[in-house]
Amino acid sequence: MDELALNDYVIIDDFLREDRLNVLQAFFKEHLEAFTKAGIGALNDQMIRSDIRGDFTYWLDRKRDTPLDSIWSLIDETIHIYNRYCYLGLSGYEFHLAHYPTGGHYDKHLDQFNNRNNRTISMIFYLNKNWQKGDGGELEIYQEDGSTLLVEPLEARCVMFKSAVVPHAVLASNKPRYSLTGWLLQQPSKLGQFSLT
Ligand code: OGA
Ligand code: MN
Repeated sequence: MDELALNDYVIIDDFLREDRLNVLQAFFKEHLEAFTKAGIGALNDQMIRSDIRGDFTYWLDRKRDTPLDSIWSLIDETIHIYNRYCYLGLSGYEFHLAHYPTGGHYDKHLDQFNNRNNRTISMIFYLNKNWQKGDGGELEIYQEDGSTLLVEPLEARCVMFKSAVVPHAVLASNKPRYSLTGWLLQQPSKLGQFSLT
């Protein structure tokens, strides 16, 4: 919490315990066929732009995706802690699985839409076994002092940052790259698609 408050982002290694990791990786494999090309913009304002963003996503639904119950409770706990110690008033979330095929990248952006500004904390869990130097796919964080930080998408690592103020990009990945990515929200999206606590 302190680090996020100070730097606007925080990186936590081994955030995912073995059992949660296994559940997520198995779920990922089972659903890979159902992923669709990710767009940019909010739900009613979607555009597919492969030059900007190359990943495929699978939106999660808490009621449907009960095999992920241990993940949902981890997210609940995280929201609870943010609200308790940072008074963020988080009241919902939206999460998807993301698959960047080889060569996939995501240009520099903020996790905010023009017409919806309730994304407060971005939360990314990486699921990549044996990620090596040279595999690419780093998350590039643009820091306030003008420097950038490259974060490797290592298995079980979690990155959180303030959605509205931290510009970031995903560098081209040299092999398939897997993550669970989501946003903790300050007001529910009211779009029907997302499951909220
Ligand atoms: C995103 C994003 C970063 C990552 O999905 O908006 O910036 O490291 N993802 O996967
Ligand atoms: Mn992003």
